[in-house]
Amino acid sequence: MPELPDCSGYKYLRESAYDRKTIRGMPRPAIAETEPFKRYPDAEKIPLPTNWTLKEARITPLLQKRRSLRKYDKEPVSMEELAFMLWASQGITAKSGNYSFRTTPSAGALYPIETYFSANSVEDLDPGLYHFDVEKFSIDRLTTTNTAESMAAACLNQTFMAQAAVGFIWTAVIRRCMCKYGNRGMRYLFLDSGHICQNLVIAAEATGNGACPVAAFYDDEMNELLDINPEDETVLYAAAVGKRFVPKKQCSL
Ligand SMILES: Cc1cc2nc3c(=O)[nH]c(=O)nc-3n(C[C@H](O)[C@H](O)[C@H](O)COP(=O)(O)O)c2cc1C
Repeated sequence: MPELPDCSGYKYLRESAYDRKTIRGMPRPAIAETEPFKRYPDAEKIPLPTNWTLKEARITPLLQKRRSLRKYDKEPVSMEELAFMLWASQGITAKSGNYSFRTTPSAGALYPIETYFSANSVEDLDPGLYHFDVEKFSIDRLTTTNTAESMAAACLNQTFMAQAAVGFIWTAVIRRCMCKYGNRGMRYLFLDSGHICQNLVIAAEATGNGACPVAAFYDDEMNELLDINPEDETVLYAAAVGKRFVPKKQCSL
């Protein structure tokens, strides 16, 4: 039974990591393009109804207007909004035996994803790096310095990350899932983090904010920012969140 660093899943994770020094010359397999939509021209076509009453479902306007937001207003995110977004992404909603089920599904209810965030502009919260304690529904302050700029730099210098009110970062505690599922567990880590990010994005919309998922980052720079050991825990995904920027109308005299 191979130990974690010898598993093909873990090797893939390291081989696909971005590094500032090597990103430009990184070998890329030449894979031919394909059609953007799958079509079955010979199959019977059954049109879907568009006048469905479910259009009234409360989630519909959130899904309809969601767009990745990269330009933010200066207004801070409130603590209440932050708490709601954290709860929506990973909050505990039910208990059964040893399991604490959450707002998002997780393979085998193992919950290998940890949430961190860089607070840049949150009301009543000092800027800095924080960790979400899911069990206690509280946050752990990890730094007293604002990490927004270094997070943006680690995200391939995507400057909007530094302008966002909050930058969420999701890591996987790799063994929590792979000790049960082996190499297949690597897939589950990515799927779990996708569920979490999607809930966050919808919760951002619901609170009058906007979000942009971010997966382009220098892996080890992000891991260093969080002070985690990539053999145990590694960054998988991130998202910037802030108030929607509304340009002021020009006054005409
Ligand atoms: C896995 C994933 C990674 C992404 N990474 C980035 C990123 O690093 N930077 C960025 O600006 N947008 C990123 N995006 C956002 C996409 O560019 C965006 O979802 C896409 O253009 C579709 O636009 P929409 O989200 O507004 O519908 C990412 C989205 C996904 C799902």
